[in-house]
Amino acid sequence: MEKYKNFINNRWIDSESKETIKVEDPSTTKIIGEISCANKPEIDLAVSAAKESFNSRILVDMPLLDRAKLMRKIADETRKVAKEGGTILCYENGKSIGAAIKEFNDVADMFDYYAGLTDKLEGKTIPVSKSILDYTVLEPYGISAHIIPWNYPLAMLGRSLACSFATGNSTIIKTAELTPLSATFFAKAIENAGTPPGLINIISGYGDEAGAYLVSHPDVNHVVFTGSVITGKKILHMAADKAIPAIVELGGKSAGIVYPDANLDDVVESARHAIFGVAGQICTAMSRLVVHKSVKDELIVKLVDLSKSLKVGPGYEEGTDLTPVISNNQLEKVEGYARSGIQAGAEAVHGGKRIDRDGYFMEATVLNNVTQDMTVAREEIFGPVLSVLEYQDAEEAINIANDTDYGLGGGVFTKDLNKAAWTASKLQSGQVYVNKWFTGSHATPFGGYKQSGYSREKGVQALNSYLQIKNVGISLV
Ligand code: NAI
Ligand code: MG
Repeated sequence: MEKYKNFINNRWIDSESKETIKVEDPSTTKIIGEISCANKPEIDLAVSAAKESFNSRILVDMPLLDRAKLMRKIADETRKVAKEGGTILCYENGKSIGAAIKEFNDVADMFDYYAGLTDKLEGKTIPVSKSILDYTVLEPYGISAHIIPWNYPLAMLGRSLACSFATGNSTIIKTAELTPLSATFFAKAIENAGTPPGLINIISGYGDEAGAYLVSHPDVNHVVFTGSVITGKKILHMAADKAIPAIVELGGKSAGIVYPDANLDDVVESARHAIFGVAGQICTAMSRLVVHKSVKDELIVKLVDLSKSLKVGPGYEEGTDLTPVISNNQLEKVEGYARSGIQAGAEAVHGGKRIDRDGYFMEATVLNNVTQDMTVAREEIFGPVLSVLEYQDAEEAINIANDTDYGLGGGVFTKDLNKAAWTASKLQSGQVYVNKWFTGSHATPFGGYKQSGYSREKGVQALNSYLQIKNVGISLV
């Protein structure tokens, strides 16, 4: 069994305590590797490496075209490790091998994209008076800590790190304890690209210990978190205690509205990827469908056909559609939600329970006759459980879709694009997908309304969250 290490100051570091985190393949429950578990000494080391690199101004003062070239080199090196790293990602997370390799390539794309923006971060001159020259300068915060979730261990790391690096911050990444191995392959790419030490440090450790210690470390002055609402609020409290900014991208309970004129096959295709892909462990999962009464029966038949057709198995097996959830805890939680829906009066037209085989597999579950008062319609399940609700007029559909504390994604299926635009204007969510879930790219801003968080990741806009504005006024007389 291979043993992996923390990447601190461009060195591969064992933890002082010799404690390791053992990583499981959720398809078999077998241990596939272990990694040194960072704790206070390693976090202190990572923070001081980041601080030293920031104070040296090596990245801040680097000519911007050179910073861009370095980022493109990191992108190229990341593509080189995509297959090997993607394979480990597939084993530790459970997702399909294709999706896992794509995550590495997505990280590379993020670095290429933000590389092109390093020299386009322009300040302003502001008219104050004839004798004052007033201008703004954009400066990095300094030491940025990123806490990463287990559902997209590489993509989430890539999008925040690329921004952080492009704007000149030094970064410490804490990976998720359930999926810490794949990021070490990315760390190799950082090393192979010749990145100066201390600018990017990647450590693994437990959330309540390493994560909390890192976020509250006095020298960390910027935080990025992606994960659950509960943990996100804890992070915000820790950041508030130090009066530092925190970017939070939290969960969702996204609804797709299906109008009577919708192409139902589009809905089914979105369900395949957006609720059954990655076993539904997606922050913008299409976890609710709000369907017009006149087409609901027909759609239910199609959703059941889809569920039956999904090939169940480990992500590393050719052609699997439904892969396991991440852990036994997660499986129990997801199965418990499905059971609660059925007890509350929903009908499981497909699935509803765990699959009787090794690993943490949950049946593709379609719950019909769900109503908004049920827990399954309100809480983030983070598993392959789709709740189908019924509506009669469009206003009612929008009210149902918006009746949630979350506001990450929303969708609408219709051939009438005027109606789609009208619906998009009413949905309280950061993303609206029309006729196809997940239309975004590295260039589109991504983030939440309401309790799904604030701030935006990806796109040009995201860079603002990694920079502070300095205003300079020069008296010319
Ligand atoms: P979590 O939100 O607790 O963990 C995400 C990350 O935060 C991990 O790296 C973890 O180590 C870290 N963390 C946990 N507690 C921390 C603390 N006190 N201080 C600093 N860092 C901390 O998610 P968890 O416990 O793995 O899963 C629980 C539920 O969260 C899931 O069932 C799912 O519903 C939701 N979730 C949502 C995600 C999303 O993208 N919306 C991603 C991951 C989980
Ligand atoms: Mg937790």
